[in-house]
Amino acid sequence: MCNDNVRKGYNKVAENYLKGRDQFKNDKYLERLIKLLPKGSLILDIGCGAGIPIDSFLVDKGFKVKGIDISEKQIELARKNVPQADFVLKDMSLLKDNEYKVDVVISFYAIFHTPREKHLDLLKKFKSFLKDDGLLLVTMGSSDWVGTEKDFFGGEMSWSHYDANSNKELIKKAGFKIIFEEIDTSGNEKHLVVLAKK
Ligand SMILES: C[S@@+](CC[C@H](N)C(=O)[O-])C[C@H]1O[C@@H](n2cnc3c(N)ncnc32)[C@H](O)[C@@H]1O
Repeated sequence: MCNDNVRKGYNKVAENYLKGRDQFKNDKYLERLIKLLPKGSLILDIGCGAGIPIDSFLVDKGFKVKGIDISEKQIELARKNVPQADFVLKDMSLLKDNEYKVDVVISFYAIFHTPREKHLDLLKKFKSFLKDDGLLLVTMGSSDWVGTEKDFFGGEMSWSHYDANSNKELIKKAGFKIIFEEIDTSGNEKHLVVLAKK
C-alpha cells in the first residue's frame, strides 16, 4: 500500500469515479449531521474528491467547508465544482496534530486508502482538529481486507481496512463517543458509516 499509487490512481480515474459516484447515497447521513450543527459551522472534508455530492450539499446548506485531497486532479475538479469551498492538495498521512480547528471532520471512502495500521493515529489526529463537542462523520471498511484492484474505474487502486467491529473499536479508542453507526449498502459495496462526538 503506497499513498503515491493511490494519488496516481485517482488522478487517472477521477472523472470516471465521479460519473459512478451517485450509486452511493449519503444524504441521510449528511442530514443527520447537519441537524446537530449551528449554521456557519466549519467542516473539514478529508479525502474530499471532486467535492460532489458531499461538499456541494454542505455549502448549499450554509456551512463553511475546507477540503483536502492527495490527488491533483480531484482538487482541480473540486475547485471547479464547489468554488465556495476552500480546497488544498494534502496527504492526510502527513497531517499534524492540531493543524486545523473545526466543528466537524468528515471523511467518506478515503481513510481506507491509507495503511490500516495507521488508522488509529489518523483518527486521533482528526480528534485533535475538533473543537470541544466537535463531530466526526466517517466511512471505514466493513470487512477485513488489504489489497489492490487492477481496474477500479479504469485504474489501479489499493485499500487497507479492518472489519466493521474493529473499526468501531478504533474510533472509540481514539477518544470518540459513537452517536450512530450502520453498514451502508446503498452502492455496490458495503461501508461502515459512523457519526461520533469528541
Ligand atoms: C473514493 S474517493 C471519495 C472522494 C469523496 N470523499 C467522495 O465521497 O466522493 C477517495 C478520495 O480519497 C483521496 N485520498 C486517498 N488517499 C488520500 C490521502 N492519503 N490523503 C488525502 N486524500 C486521499 C483520493 O484521492 C480520493 O479523492
